[in-house]
Amino acid sequence: MLFRNCATSIALLASNAAATIYYAGVAESSGEFGVWSATATPGTGLPGTFGVDYAFINKSAIDVFVDQNKVNLFRVAFLLERMCPLSYGLGSKFNETHFSFFKDAIDYVTVNKSAYAILDPHNYMRYNDPSSQPMTGSIIGDTSDVKAATTAQFAAFWGELAGRFKDNEKVIFGLMNEPHDMPTSLVLANDQAAINAIRKVNAKQLIIAPGNSWTGGHSWTSGSDASSLIMANISDPLNNTAFDIHEYFDSDYSGGHVNCTNLASTQLAPLTAWLAQHNFRAMITEFGASNSTGCTSYVSDIISYMENNPQYIGWTAWAAGPFWGTSSPCCTDQAHWGSLEPGSTAADGSPSLYETVWMKTIQKIVPKTLVWKGMSALKPM
Ligand SMILES: *[C@@H]1O[C@H](CO)[C@@H](O)[C@H](O)[C@H]1NC(C)=O
Ligand SMILES: *[C@@H]1O[C@H](CO)[C@@H](O)[C@H](O)[C@H]1NC(C)=O
Ligand SMILES: *[C@@H]1O[C@H](CO)[C@@H](O)[C@H](O)[C@H]1NC(C)=O
Ligand SMILES: *[C@@H]1O[C@H](CO)[C@@H](O)[C@H](O)[C@H]1NC(C)=O
Ligand SMILES: *[C@@H]1O[C@H](CO)[C@@H](O)[C@H](O)[C@H]1NC(C)=O
Ligand SMILES: *[C@@H]1O[C@H](CO)[C@@H](O)[C@H](O)[C@H]1NC(C)=O
Ligand SMILES: *[C@@H]1O[C@H](CO)[C@@H](O)[C@H](O)[C@H]1NC(C)=O
Repeated sequence: MLFRNCATSIALLASNAAATIYYAGVAESSGEFGVWSATATPGTGLPGTFGVDYAFINKSAIDVFVDQNKVNLFRVAFLLERMCPLSYGLGSKFNETHFSFFKDAIDYVTVNKSAYAILDPHNYMRYNDPSSQPMTGSIIGDTSDVKAATTAQFAAFWGELAGRFKDNEKVIFGLMNEPHDMPTSLVLANDQAAINAIRKVNAKQLIIAPGNSWTGGHSWTSGSDASSLIMANISDPLNNTAFDIHEYFDSDYSGGHVNCTNLASTQLAPLTAWLAQHNFRAMITEFGASNSTGCTSYVSDIISYMENNPQYIGWTAWAAGPFWGTSSPCCTDQAHWGSLEPGSTAADGSPSLYETVWMKTIQKIVPKTLVWKGMSALKPM
């Protein structure tokens, strides 16, 4: 009996020591919807009609995730071209009506539900033409493109947004979704300018910063534009910035395909070593898989890998959101199997990925270490 008690408390101590997943939940994707054009016609869907072309959250779905599923993090996507209309340009002048819709969603998550919210400009480090995202639009800070917004404009945007939320300790500033096909030095320059602007307005919350190449974890240390070669130079006067990583398990890491072939615990090992070497932390704000039985172990692998490595402090799965309908956010080879949105269904009325992936696999291993109080931080108080 005594021996057993001893063993139990040692096991508890050991698991507490490694338990650094403070934030976990789901990406809320739909705020960036409604601008796609098959012919990449600039301006398509802008500004769009809130509640018809796009929306940020369904409050009932947030209730399900928080009240029943006990997760505490939502990554809420929005489009820069709606927050800062093209006629204003990227910067500190917002469309106040659009901002009020976004703020209502963030306040619901953070104030009404006491969860945390990542503010996610879903723009691939581009601004001015989302008509064929992720490929269209001028790269922010590209001085060879006369139409491009500048790094200073990006900083002004973040200074304004962070200033508006500086008294809400439950927000997390997600600097940018998936920069790609640009110099990594420019990703760093834009990230750094945004961090400086956020701290300048005295907003102290957690920042998550992307690297290059879709901020992929598996490729963080490889190639001539590897994020590892440059991103270690990032600096935050408050030491409250983590890296924002995405990772999928299919053959090309795109999240497009049904079959899982790349195990995260293997693929992320070089990134984890780099994070450890530089004493950085990370959140994985996109991962996902189909309901194929072959993928189940890949989903549990990434969640337990993050839990077992103190470099990781949180995650959001891709994706829920009110406007997916029967479409799938990832991992189905275009099959309409629904999304992680509670209440969604597949096109044939059968259970959606909410039932067949979230409830079946993810929900059972949601970490027990999530926090519900205090300012978002690398190490919450
Ligand atoms: C601002 O947003 C509102 C609500 O979506 C929209 O009606 C209006 O046209 C937008 N203004 C600009 C300049 O885009
Ligand atoms: C959220 O909280 C505010 C302030 O307490 C309250 O007025 C509002 O009705 C709540 N919203 C919902 C949808 O419950
Ligand atoms: C990183 O910072 C060091 C020291 O300030 C500097 O010498 C180096 O050029 C920087 N590297 C990059 C890639 O920005
Ligand atoms: C941030 O970390 C650096 C290096 O460890 C340290 O010198 C500095 O005092 C820290 N700043 C704050 C505000 O904690
Ligand atoms: C997925 O893998 C299974 C089993 O290896 C195979 O039969 C199937 O063709 C694959 N599906 C696709 C879309 O590649
Ligand atoms: C995945 O979900 C879809 C939609 O419910 C269903 O048609 C399909 O059979 C499921 N696949 C597996 C392997 O269970
Ligand atoms: C929000 O979710 C509830 C519960 O699943 C559902 O009844 C309602 O139709 C949803 N609203 C929208 C706008 O999708």
